[in-house]
Amino acid sequence: MRLLTDIIIAVDGYSSCGKSTLAKNLAHCLQYRHIDTGAMYRAVTYWCLENHFIKNNDIYTDAIVKRLNEIHIEFHFNALSQLNELWLNKKLLTNEIRTPIVSAYASQISQIPEVRQKMVQLQKQMGKNKRIVMDGRDIGTVVFPEAELKIFMTADPNIRAKRRLAELQEKGIDVTFDEVLKNIEERDYLDTHREISPLRKADDALVLDNSNMSKTEQLEWILKQIKKRFPYED
Ligand code: C5P
Repeated sequence: MRLLTDIIIAVDGYSSCGKSTLAKNLAHCLQYRHIDTGAMYRAVTYWCLENHFIKNNDIYTDAIVKRLNEIHIEFHFNALSQLNELWLNKKLLTNEIRTPIVSAYASQISQIPEVRQKMVQLQKQMGKNKRIVMDGRDIGTVVFPEAELKIFMTADPNIRAKRRLAELQEKGIDVTFDEVLKNIEERDYLDTHREISPLRKADDALVLDNSNMSKTEQLEWILKQIKKRFPYED
């Protein structure tokens, strides 16, 4: 499908709702760029761990802020895997940003105002020519409040945990259902209660509860919403 007008699509929502999967599939259909902003906050968290700015449950915020300018994040599309891959300081990051330790700290690292400022600036830059599907927590509210289409995703936490567990196990990451559920609930709490850019539905966002929907059904739903609102060619 080809849209006859260039737009920005913002996909926000709770942890492990399948935002990135839907955003990636949609971007593929529209031949748009997909940016997973959660991966960016995860990459910063990974960098903090590598540099020992997180140690024994302590986060050394001053040191992180001081050295933030050492972080260079880029996305490059890999035609073979059809994925928009994240590179941190010229290093490709894949499964290492999906580990339980990175998940455990990502919401805390993403609360640091300077970290958010840097990521939001980068994200705005990536969307300056539109033709982008960006997923995260604050895309429709802060990064692109002017986005032409905003989706807010939600699903039952138990269903989310079940899906995430299967995904992690497939990647060979060893975790239990209870650990995954606890992490999801903690991240939801931190994301919705933080002072800066808390997760909330933009007033003009469409809600998608995908608790009982397959990936194909979700994609069909969003394509239907797009067709209703924007001129297109099949
Ligand atoms: O989406 P994902 O679960 O990979 O994101 C990891 C963490 O990054 C989230 O728990 C959230 O705290 C943070 N995040 C954010 N703003 C975004 C995207 C993610 O604060 N736009």
